[in-house]
Amino acid sequence: MAAPAQAIPRHVAIIMDGNGRWAKERGLPRIKGHEQGAQAVRACVEGCGDLRIEYLTLYAFSAENWQRPRAEVMALMRLLERFLKEKTPELLEKNVRLQAIGRLTDLPGACQRQLHKSIEQTAGNNGLTLILALSYGGRLEIIDGIKSLLHEIELGHIDRAMIDVEMFSKHLYTRYYPDPDLLIRTSGEMRISNFLLWQLSYTEMYVTPKLWPDFGKEDLFAAVEEFSQRQRRYGGV
Ligand code: IPE
Ligand code: IPE
Ligand code: MG
Repeated sequence: MAAPAQAIPRHVAIIMDGNGRWAKERGLPRIKGHEQGAQAVRACVEGCGDLRIEYLTLYAFSAENWQRPRAEVMALMRLLERFLKEKTPELLEKNVRLQAIGRLTDLPGACQRQLHKSIEQTAGNNGLTLILALSYGGRLEIIDGIKSLLHEIELGHIDRAMIDVEMFSKHLYTRYYPDPDLLIRTSGEMRISNFLLWQLSYTEMYVTPKLWPDFGKEDLFAAVEEFSQRQRRYGGV
């Protein structure tokens, strides 16, 4: 399928779900599904580049995912560190700028160091902005936003009467990015799972039964093609 010609979303957000099921179907340990899932990220980043999408946010690890068995969590953290180390040269080559949102200080030290290194190394790129959501929770983000606003009030920088939607948006992790236009969730689940609660208010949703490790460029193009047929109304007529 060719890339659609118009109405390309500026910002695509993806809930990359189904790694565990992908592994289970093959009688493999869950971590094998996560490894295959990391490979799927590559095609997706490339597809976004082909379509000239400006922002891609990937839900890689939720604030709630810390509740998983310790062995799985640790394996995921090691995978993240390895992925960043291995893929940074490719991000540089593809002019991708890496960013991250979430409670990043919750990540193991080695992960944080590699993450910041990759972010710094790609900071000068001006192609796709790839945003990884790590230890990310939408409710926590809103709480952090409220705390940050209160701090500014205490400092006397702002008055509470000045708080509006636009100002609050500037106190979220996503303050530098536009809201997502298209949300994709793989593996068929019809829920948000605490992802970008504030930012998804008027985002178009696309759910596919495909499991994340099987999600390829063609699937991304199909989602964008469907998006281009949608009529967005934002509460109007
Ligand atoms: C998504 O796949 C990856 C993460 C949440 C880290 P899952 O691990 O949730 O896979 P399923 O939902 O169990 O199939
Ligand atoms: C959402 O998937 C989080 C990520 C994809 C990182 P989960 O598998 O954690 O969500 P639930 O538990 O099905 O809602
Ligand atoms: Mg899941």
